[in-house]
Amino acid sequence: MDQPIIELRGVVKSFGPVDVLKGVNFTAYPGKITALVGDNGAGKSTLIKGLAGVQPYDDGEVLFNGEPVNLHTPRDAAHLGIEVVYQDLALCDNLDIVQNMFLGREELAAGTFDEGVMEREAAETLRQLSVRTVKSVRQKVSSLSGGQRQTVAIARSVLKKAKVVILDEPTAALGVAQTAQVLALVKRLAEQGVSVVIISHNLVDVFEVADYISVLYLGQMVASVETSKTTNEDVIGYITGAKTYEGEHA
Ligand SMILES: Nc1ncnc2c1ncn2[C@@H]1O[C@H](COP(=O)(O)OP(=O)(O)OP(=O)(O)O)[C@@H](O)[C@H]1O
Ligand SMILES: [Mg+2]
Repeated sequence: MDQPIIELRGVVKSFGPVDVLKGVNFTAYPGKITALVGDNGAGKSTLIKGLAGVQPYDDGEVLFNGEPVNLHTPRDAAHLGIEVVYQDLALCDNLDIVQNMFLGREELAAGTFDEGVMEREAAETLRQLSVRTVKSVRQKVSSLSGGQRQTVAIARSVLKKAKVVILDEPTAALGVAQTAQVLALVKRLAEQGVSVVIISHNLVDVFEVADYISVLYLGQMVASVETSKTTNEDVIGYITGAKTYEGEHA
């Protein structure tokens, strides 16, 4: 098997007396989609906030392409090319698509940005991802549907040349057609070599897109399996604690 781009070994996170991550191992591979599943409160968002550097782990090891790294700040994560698309997306409603896609980029800080270049880059990124439902990149984000917003947020991570894109419940609020669009986008990201980690409560979505499934149960990684080697029923068993995974962790 390929070298993981992300490898977590024994990560621990507590909030006061509450142990939320109890020595978690996790891997993600370039060009592959890993679904992170588990019941409400299992620790999924806490795990990815550690990867994003916004809420550092208390203990444990993080390897990036096999090398130990520190993830103490969001800057550390961004520097490695780890981008997280949060459920609330953090898009600015009053700005248009181009402005949102370039928000916070160094080009802006340096004052060297060029509206025409940004507009072309934004349009080109959406085109590469085969996004055709957005009429104009000068449309205000407030006028976009939930699926289109998700698309803009994901495209922004692509524009940043992310190597790892983590999506926290990207389809939770979407209808059937929009969900299909976002899942197709997720697949294209992986085809371009990006390592994608997707948190989802929807096992139909998970089985449709994921190469690997990692299951958190009360702060412990109870199963990490290849999707093709497991079943919906087994995964539900791991999520609820009704079934114990006996195999090797993928
Ligand atoms: N900042 C915090 N302070 C205290 N407790 C926290 C904090 N963040 C999370 N927790 C607790 O950690 C546990 C795991 O929360 P987390 O948000 O990681 O779960 P989750 O798996 O993402 O759940 P969901 O599916 O509902 O989003 C929960 O019991 C939660 O109450
Ligand atoms: Mg969560």
